[in-house]
Amino acid sequence: MTKNLRYGIIGCGMMGQEHIRNIALLGDARVVAIAEPDAKMREAAQALVPDAAAYESGEELIEAGKIDALIIATPNNLHTQHLQLAHSQSELPVLLEKPLFTDLADAASVRDKAATGLPVWVAMEYRYMPVIASFIDEVRAMQNRGEKVQMLAIREHRFPFLEKVGNWNRFNAQTGGTLVEKCCHFFDLMRFTLKSDPVRLYATGGMDVNHVSERYEGATPDILDNALVVLDFACGARASLDLCMFAEGSKFQERISAVTESAKVECNVPGPGRFWPVDRLGPAPTAELIVSPRDPSGENLVSVPVDPHLLDAGDHNGSTYYQHVRFAKFVRGNGPIEVSMEDGFKAVRIGQAAQESIRTGQPIDLTEGPFRL
Ligand SMILES: NC(=O)c1ccc[n+]([C@@H]2O[C@H](COP(=O)([O-])OP(=O)(O)OC[C@H]3O[C@@H](n4cnc5c(N)ncnc54)[C@H](O)[C@@H]3O)[C@@H](O)[C@H]2O)c1
Repeated sequence: MTKNLRYGIIGCGMMGQEHIRNIALLGDARVVAIAEPDAKMREAAQALVPDAAAYESGEELIEAGKIDALIIATPNNLHTQHLQLAHSQSELPVLLEKPLFTDLADAASVRDKAATGLPVWVAMEYRYMPVIASFIDEVRAMQNRGEKVQMLAIREHRFPFLEKVGNWNRFNAQTGGTLVEKCCHFFDLMRFTLKSDPVRLYATGGMDVNHVSERYEGATPDILDNALVVLDFACGARASLDLCMFAEGSKFQERISAVTESAKVECNVPGPGRFWPVDRLGPAPTAELIVSPRDPSGENLVSVPVDPHLLDAGDHNGSTYYQHVRFAKFVRGNGPIEVSMEDGFKAVRIGQAAQESIRTGQPIDLTEGPFRL
């Protein structure tokens, strides 16, 4: 019989609790320890796993031991510190929420750490959304026929940043900046789809609508709520990211398209079901995969439904569950790390370069200088 895996989680806010709900669905794993300093969040997490040991700090959780794997879901600027803590006593397998790091000054030490081969999987869960996995399969089939993706476009039009414990997500110093904080997902997806690294980018963006009148202890948020990023990849592809965080009226949250010389492949991803106004608009939309060949022309659209239990367990169209299935395989020694620290590093680096491009108004070279990948 397979042994139940024992998980610990440091940081049990919104995402930590999404991890708890999805681990419960695995069937052969359970959360046995949680660390959360905020009493309300600790109580909410403990209600999901009443038998787990509850601590106020990660140090206590690591000290207590008796876990097979650790999940780190603390605010972005604490990730490197908690990763250090995770490996202070043993080489524990870690699922680390993105972004891998936030501070430009940490880049060299994080790059060195990435080279040591520590058992760290960075949680780039967009790769595991069923419709995005199907999109990647279609692209891979075209690449295997020798075709090249020439253009890749990712558009995310969604709701504003939610409220967080201590409002950590309102300031670049804690998040790394919007293009690091959330868009590292999309830069990872670009690298993964194209199997190539970007060589140059240009970005423009600002905080123009949301958060403008918010004040936290007298300080105004400094995060972006809209941006455009254009990237040239080493393989010759052109890619773009179009982010707008005051567009929650959209039917789909992400629209992604890849075009080769023979066809266009697209996918449409709905946002979190809990925000969809069922009373006014009826059932929430289902994810779509669309293939449009040039010849014969015409769209071929298929729906990619997700098990409602998985949709209910989180905000990410089932991806957290599928990511956990793969991560558990790795913890059991039956599979590789699929999203490495190097992947996590590069996704952050591209986001940092895009933030710098907005700050300076200049394109950024990613092959040499401070933002070399
Ligand atoms: N992969 C994804 O799609 C995805 C989605 C959302 C959030 N995230 C990431 O998950 C992380 C958490 O985000 P969230 O939305 O859950 O934020 P959150 O504020 O809801 O949760 C963070 C929790 O960490 C706790 N915390 C703060 N300091 C701590 C410490 N020293 N030790 C232990 N816990 C501490 C806070 O009290 C809070 O409950 C962030 O890094 C975020 O970028 C990833």
